[in-house]
Amino acid sequence: MKSLRARLSLWFALSATITLAVLFVVGYLLLESYIQRDLDLLNKTEFEQIRARLGTDYSALTPQIVDQRIRETTNYASVLFYINIDEPPHDILFYSNNLDGKPIPDVPGKHVYNTFVPGVGELRVGEFIMPPFDVTIGTPTRQMRQGLTAYVEVSVALLVIMLLTSGLIGIATSRMILRPVRLIGETANRIRSDNLAERIAVPSGKDELFDLVRLLNQMFDRLEASFKQARQFSEEVSHELKTPLSLVRLHAERLLVEGRLERRHEDAVLVQLDELARINQMIDELLFISRAEVNGVKLNLVSQHPAHFLRSIEPDLRVLAEHRGRRLHSVQHGDGLVAMEEKWLRQVIFNLLTNALRVSPPNGMIVMQSTVDSSGWCVSIADQGPGLTEEQCERVFDRFVRFNVQAGEDQGSGLGLTICRSIIELHGGSIRAQPRTDGPGLRVSFELPLAPPMLEPSHAVIQPLLGSS
Ligand SMILES: Nc1ncnc2c1ncn2[C@@H]1O[C@H](COP(=O)(O)OP(=O)(O)OP(=O)(O)O)[C@@H](O)[C@H]1O
Ligand SMILES: [Mg+2]
Repeated sequence: MKSLRARLSLWFALSATITLAVLFVVGYLLLESYIQRDLDLLNKTEFEQIRARLGTDYSALTPQIVDQRIRETTNYASVLFYINIDEPPHDILFYSNNLDGKPIPDVPGKHVYNTFVPGVGELRVGEFIMPPFDVTIGTPTRQMRQGLTAYVEVSVALLVIMLLTSGLIGIATSRMILRPVRLIGETANRIRSDNLAERIAVPSGKDELFDLVRLLNQMFDRLEASFKQARQFSEEVSHELKTPLSLVRLHAERLLVEGRLERRHEDAVLVQLDELARINQMIDELLFISRAEVNGVKLNLVSQHPAHFLRSIEPDLRVLAEHRGRRLHSVQHGDGLVAMEEKWLRQVIFNLLTNALRVSPPNGMIVMQSTVDSSGWCVSIADQGPGLTEEQCERVFDRFVRFNVQAGEDQGSGLGLTICRSIIELHGGSIRAQPRTDGPGLRVSFELPLAPPMLEPSHAVIQPLLGSS
């Protein structure tokens, strides 16, 4: 059973029912022993009556007189008592009529016991010595057994009721007890890199929950501080790097312009300029990602038809694919309005296509499918490359993650998909990668919600950080 609430309810119901069951068992044993004690008392009283009736000179009486006197005494209670009198080692001296000539069995060494007489049933027996006679008196236990059976039936019914009610009480109680824990979980789940300032509400009362919340909030304080530091550090380093990088680039360009370099030195400077451009782009990308994480990038959303948007970028996508010797097939279904900022979505699609082109075999087919329906706009780009495993697909959107990179291959920084995810999430959508099911290759798809009706373009400003791909 996975849920703590269910476990608590079950434990509560079981412990309450088991406690009651134990009480019932103890009650049963006590009741039985009380009734038996009463029966023993009854037998003893009957014996006293017999003894009084026989008188002190009973040993001198003939068996006929003994028989007659006892019958006179016991006949009135023949339903209640079963009596036999022995005179060891001789035969039995007296049987009450209700015994039908069957003796009450003797249990050696015991004076009170339960025994079963065929045709009579269970008896509670008391054995009394009246030398030279052994008087055995039995009382039926039928009434006692009936009473105890009724007790057991009532107890079982009460246990069932107890199990049900304590189960319900357990559910309600565990819900009440776990409510603060659920609230803590919900708040802790909301606290992400973009709202690190949120804290869990401290419960009233200085109990264990209070301590837990205090500790969690302290942990979030520390996390927030380190996040801030890390973000500030990467922003500052990025800014600090830009100036010396620009200077290096200016110097290198001046060397080229002056034209006094030998051919091989000129080539080296060109390589340096290429690398500088790459580093610059990487810095821009890192700055963008860290701002996007704190919602520091504001979008200028405009409602538009995805089909128009895709038509406008399709020629460029096709040229890019042809240039790399691959084929692009584009499919579009449905219509609707989606709130987007065109340049960012253009960047996402170009990043995804660039990745697909990089892994596709020569003349490989890349399929771009766009579907708009009531659930939103979904775009997928599927290639015929080697694809990725499920586990790699989980990690592929993390920063600097690159798989199966061959030496000398076209160098990427491993930030493209991280940026795609940031852009899509800024648009309120989601993106994922999955292995193709209809052949080798990878399918990366993103989904955006439909625009709320009458969305006005926002006038917030976007910091233009990234050069277009
Ligand atoms: N379509 C694909 N098929 C197989 N692997 C892919 C595909 N797209 C991405 N990958 C893998 O995911 C890694 C990360 O991709 P991402 O776009 O983030 O970085 P990059 O392409 O290496 O560099 P950048 O895009 O920053 O220039 C890639 O290095 C590649 O290993
Ligand atoms: Mg890429």
